[in-house]
Amino acid sequence: MERIIIVANQKGGVGKTTTTVNLAAGLVQLGYRTAVIDLDSQGALTISLGFDPYTTRPSTYNLLLEEEITFVDILKDTGKNIDLAPANAELIAAEYKLYTRPDRTSRLRATLQLPRQPYDFILIDSPPNLGLVTVNGLVAATELLIPVATNYLSMRGVRSLLDSVWLIREKLNPQLKLLGVLPTLVHPKATHAKSAIYEMQTVFKQKVFQTHIPYDDIAATAPAMRKTILEYAPNSAVAAAYLYLAKEVSRAE
Ligand SMILES: Nc1ncnc2c1ncn2[C@@H]1O[C@H](COP(=O)(O)OP(=O)(O)OP(=O)(O)O)[C@@H](O)[C@H]1O
Ligand SMILES: [Mg+2]
Repeated sequence: MERIIIVANQKGGVGKTTTTVNLAAGLVQLGYRTAVIDLDSQGALTISLGFDPYTTRPSTYNLLLEEEITFVDILKDTGKNIDLAPANAELIAAEYKLYTRPDRTSRLRATLQLPRQPYDFILIDSPPNLGLVTVNGLVAATELLIPVATNYLSMRGVRSLLDSVWLIREKLNPQLKLLGVLPTLVHPKATHAKSAIYEMQTVFKQKVFQTHIPYDDIAATAPAMRKTILEYAPNSAVAAAYLYLAKEVSRAE
């Protein structure tokens, strides 16, 4: 069974894109057929995987809005065994163009259900909002992974995110389940990181991943070199953490 995992949190800068890229790289390393979908008009995932969002067409914008464009039509070969459905700034317009369509929340799901090659994992990177494009991701997904930064006030908003997600599940995608909550940007020595993780475990119990993603500047350097962290710094603690996360995700039912 193909697993479609959306990485979402309406809070910005919590590690959604970094997690999408490096979890994908970890899953590939474990031998899984993996694709990623960029649903953020800023195209950070697209850039991280070596493509220029200003010139890369067709993109997820076309996929969401044009019936004749299929998933296969927009896929890019990243040379890393990760297939990429890229995004560009046109996606901003998708929000209001989708709005008037009766199928506005199910476009991505419909297009993924058309004949195409199967994957073990499709990971969806989403923008820091809960607009219609993100809702398309939540409706297409089978699982939700929420990265939560362990810095100041990081837990704020996670509950409201989940409230919205359960509403979407009830109305639009009953199969959607919470895969897990991932502590990110963990400063190993900071006491606020420890208390943030403790708070997450109190609220989300066994849904908090055993993996914690440590803070490391390598995480910002790797995408600038168009490399995953697993390629750029395979011996770093953060690369090890993402590989461990891939194992944890692949073990989860
Ligand atoms: N483990 C880490 N250690 C240090 N820096 C990190 C780590 N993970 C991500 N970063 C950096 O933090 C910033 C935000 O990360 P990222 O882009 O993955 O978050 P995001 O949730 O996708 O952001 P947005 O909401 O803007 O899409 C980036 O500059 C990234 O390089
Ligand atoms: Mg992002």
